[in-house]
Amino acid sequence: MAVNDVSIKFRNTSACESVTFAVRQESSVAIVGSSGSGKTSLLLVLAGLLRPASGDVTVLGKSLWGASRRARTSARRKHLGYVAQFSDLIPELTLLENVAMPLRLLGVPFTRAREISPHKMDQLGVARMSTRFPDEVSGGEMQRAAIARSLVHDPAVVLADEPTGALDEDNRNLVMHELLVAARTSGSAVVVVTHDAQLASAADSVLHMNDGRLSPPTK
Ligand SMILES: Nc1ncnc2c1ncn2[C@@H]1O[C@H](COP(=O)(O)OP(=O)(O)OP(=O)(O)O)[C@@H](O)[C@H]1O
Ligand SMILES: [Mg+2]
Repeated sequence: MAVNDVSIKFRNTSACESVTFAVRQESSVAIVGSSGSGKTSLLLVLAGLLRPASGDVTVLGKSLWGASRRARTSARRKHLGYVAQFSDLIPELTLLENVAMPLRLLGVPFTRAREISPHKMDQLGVARMSTRFPDEVSGGEMQRAAIARSLVHDPAVVLADEPTGALDEDNRNLVMHELLVAARTSGSAVVVVTHDAQLASAADSVLHMNDGRLSPPTK
């Protein structure tokens, strides 16, 4: 994934200014920075969910923001996994149905999606909660289910916004491991926004955001 000169504006406030960086397949980048520095806004642009005021993002060499909405939606379904900062599991679906959703959107038959999804849930330690609804599990369990959902279709790019925010140390390690394994074994490009210094240091490089601008990589 390449991010080229992205600027983001909300009315007259600027949330990001001229952000440029690239994440190779099979590698990971952590973005750190203080609250309000523009991390979530930037990730939304990378996820194809927020149109930048200027600049573009390419996924597997193809423009995300120069494409039609239909092409962007298709690229998102096929190539992107996204973990939102706050749980966005669908309340009317069980955890298993939530995790299986990206596969269903890609046309994978129901029975097959139901076979693949528990495996990913197991890796994140939430297989036992398959038949529960989001309001019947803890915040950390929701977060791990959301991570399973972002990885279930082996996307080329995984974007995770504070994926360890609600987790204890063991589960932080588990999530960090699964995200980095996705980079190494599935060949994904992984971008993780985090306040967690341990998670950041496990990534291949760390970018610092300060008031909407990136300072040079530290690793
Ligand atoms: N929808 C919006 N409308 C107007 N301003 C917004 C909107 N979303 C974010 N902002 C502003 O843009 C700036 C960046 O917000 P953003 O959510 O990207 O920060 P962040 O780095 O993710 O912060 P945190 O660490 O608290 O999650 C902030 O000043 C915020 O108030
Ligand atoms: Mg944020």
